[in-house]
Amino acid sequence: MIERMFSHRTDWQLAPNRLTGAIEEARAVGQPFIDLTISNPTRAGITYDGTSILDSLRHDASLDYDPQPKGLLAAREAVADYYRARKERIDPESLVLTSGTSEGYSYVFRLLANPGEEILVPKPSYPLFDFLAELQDVKLIPYPLLYDHGWQIDFHSLERAIGPATRGIVLVNPNNPTGSYVSDAEREQLNDICRQRGLALIVDEVFLDYSLGDVPHPSFATNDGALTFALSGLSKISALPQMKLAWIAVSGPANLAQEARQRLEVIADTYLSVSAPVQLAACTLLEQRRTVQSQILTRVQQNLAELDRQLALHKTCSRLAAAGGWYAILRVPITQPDEDLAIALLREKGVLVHPGHFYDFPQDGFLVLSLIGRPAEFCSGIEKVLNFLGT
Ligand SMILES: Cc1ncc(COP(=O)(O)O)c(C=O)c1O
Repeated sequence: MIERMFSHRTDWQLAPNRLTGAIEEARAVGQPFIDLTISNPTRAGITYDGTSILDSLRHDASLDYDPQPKGLLAAREAVADYYRARKERIDPESLVLTSGTSEGYSYVFRLLANPGEEILVPKPSYPLFDFLAELQDVKLIPYPLLYDHGWQIDFHSLERAIGPATRGIVLVNPNNPTGSYVSDAEREQLNDICRQRGLALIVDEVFLDYSLGDVPHPSFATNDGALTFALSGLSKISALPQMKLAWIAVSGPANLAQEARQRLEVIADTYLSVSAPVQLAACTLLEQRRTVQSQILTRVQQNLAELDRQLALHKTCSRLAAAGGWYAILRVPITQPDEDLAIALLREKGVLVHPGHFYDFPQDGFLVLSLIGRPAEFCSGIEKVLNFLGT
């Protein structure tokens, strides 16, 4: 008799969670709802230059197979140009292309950690980490971000979370969904910790350009204070997740960074996962950010202003301060678990929001709202949410 067919790492709870079950129910009976969780920019009414995008994929050179482990030089140069436009100089040789930031995480986890070793991740943050880590046999240890008018890293807890099996620290800059950037002082402290303890920084910068302030925030792609892997890609930078092009920028003390690049190159060579057409289109696809980012930022600001206008009339709820990104966090009275509240909002008001606990908020009383949706829908969705919470 066969005792076991599948690996323990795939022993997932495959049944949908209660909120997903409620969404499926609503769809099954044709109940329309306003989606305040939308994260797919291609379905948010953003205007793209379709002709340029599609033309860029039609390239004679796509008929030639030129397997380059780190990616075609022209594509890596296009990425280096993106940083140059931000006044940050990086060498295309320090870049490794991947099909997504998620794949970038996998490569870096594989590079740094043996099975069972540990990577520190911020909490609250993006829920995909758990799956990525499980698939790479890495153990995630959370470190808290604390909110007091703005978000900060709790360094006391972070240092206590570091143990002999720790290999690296993940930063999300700005974090999803808190919208908080890593400050200069935090960067220095993180570099010191990593240097002293022999750790690497893994910095997810997919939302880097979506700053709500006037000053752009620096990337970690040029961070020399510790071995650093900055991850980003087209999915948010050009709002083109379907194109599947991302990158890892390696920086840090010269010999460590050099060895990391060589080892990453072998990992990338094993998969060669990025298609030729998309690499040849990289320059044009990255250029799309110039029109797309401004549309999204206008949306985010408009929706945030509408949220604030409505919140001013509802004293029981408030929103947390955010410095960037695509999300707002609503603080709501705790009358029931956040997931129950989200289900009630969907069933009774026809509005979908994410409960804070999806992002590992340590307590109830938080809802996460996407700010990239169409303003009219956002306005009416927020009205329904606040009316429900006010009653
Ligand atoms: C913080 C963060 N990192 C990475 C990703 C995934 O990016 P990619 O599509 O490049 O894998 C997402 C997607 O929403 C995200 O929010």
